[in-house]
Amino acid sequence: MTAGPGWDPNVYLRHASDRSRPFVDLLARVPGEPRSIIDLGCGPGHLTDVLLARWPDATVHGVDSSAEMIEAARARADGATYEHADVVTWTPSRAVDLIVSNALFQWVPERAEVIRRLTDSVSPGGAFALQVPDNADAPSHRLLRELAAREPYAPHTASAQHVPPGPPEEYLDLFAGLGWTVDAWSTTYLHVLPGEDPVWSWVSGTGARPVLQSLPDHLRERFVAEYQAALREAYPSRPYGTVLPFRRTFAVAQR
Ligand SMILES: C[S@@+](CC[C@H](N)C(=O)[O-])C[C@H]1O[C@@H](n2cnc3c(N)ncnc32)[C@H](O)[C@@H]1O
Repeated sequence: MTAGPGWDPNVYLRHASDRSRPFVDLLARVPGEPRSIIDLGCGPGHLTDVLLARWPDATVHGVDSSAEMIEAARARADGATYEHADVVTWTPSRAVDLIVSNALFQWVPERAEVIRRLTDSVSPGGAFALQVPDNADAPSHRLLRELAAREPYAPHTASAQHVPPGPPEEYLDLFAGLGWTVDAWSTTYLHVLPGEDPVWSWVSGTGARPVLQSLPDHLRERFVAEYQAALREAYPSRPYGTVLPFRRTFAVAQR
């Protein structure tokens, strides 16, 4: 499984409301009334619920390579079905009307190949809709890379960096090259986060996970303290909260 161990549904859901907004914006551009939907990289299933609310008559099947996430999703008993599988090798058993994927493909280095293969499973007239963060240059990620590349962390973190997710052009080119009609764009959200060290709280549940998990216990605490201090400086707290600008790539392609 490429996701690796340690996805924690509770940590991830701390910012569920801010993280759901791009999914709602993505779905707003999906054409038609899909009757069969795959939610790739469904996570703890809270967004699968949004799919069921938008298309109550559709069958929804969530797929995720984290056993913890699938367990959390199944516990919702929301009418969707869930499967523990890696999208790198997984293929739907029959054609579907919509494949949707929110914040997954930044974790899949071979994403172009995977997306191309999965497009064969979309019915004629059906759609593929995806959203990925496009924030590799943001201070949160730059500071993480810089700190991880320093001693004494570098020997442990060398293999923990993931492939930066692409800009909208990458997906426009991929789907248009297959002859699909494509709507691709980017949006920068200004998340206003409450509480202490909220940017740390956000990135520790997603982007910083591979680096944090690569560190031995005796170094992790020190790394976290240094990273938190750097984040506080880069994202100062204001009277109304801490602003986290976050650029995301969207693509909705119709076959
Ligand atoms: C950032 S979470 C997104 C969850 C949900 N889609 C959302 O938007 O809230 C990324 C999810 O992708 C899953 N994932 C990562 N690599 C995967 C792979 N190769 N196959 C299936 N799921 C994967 C992780 O387990 C995690 O649940």
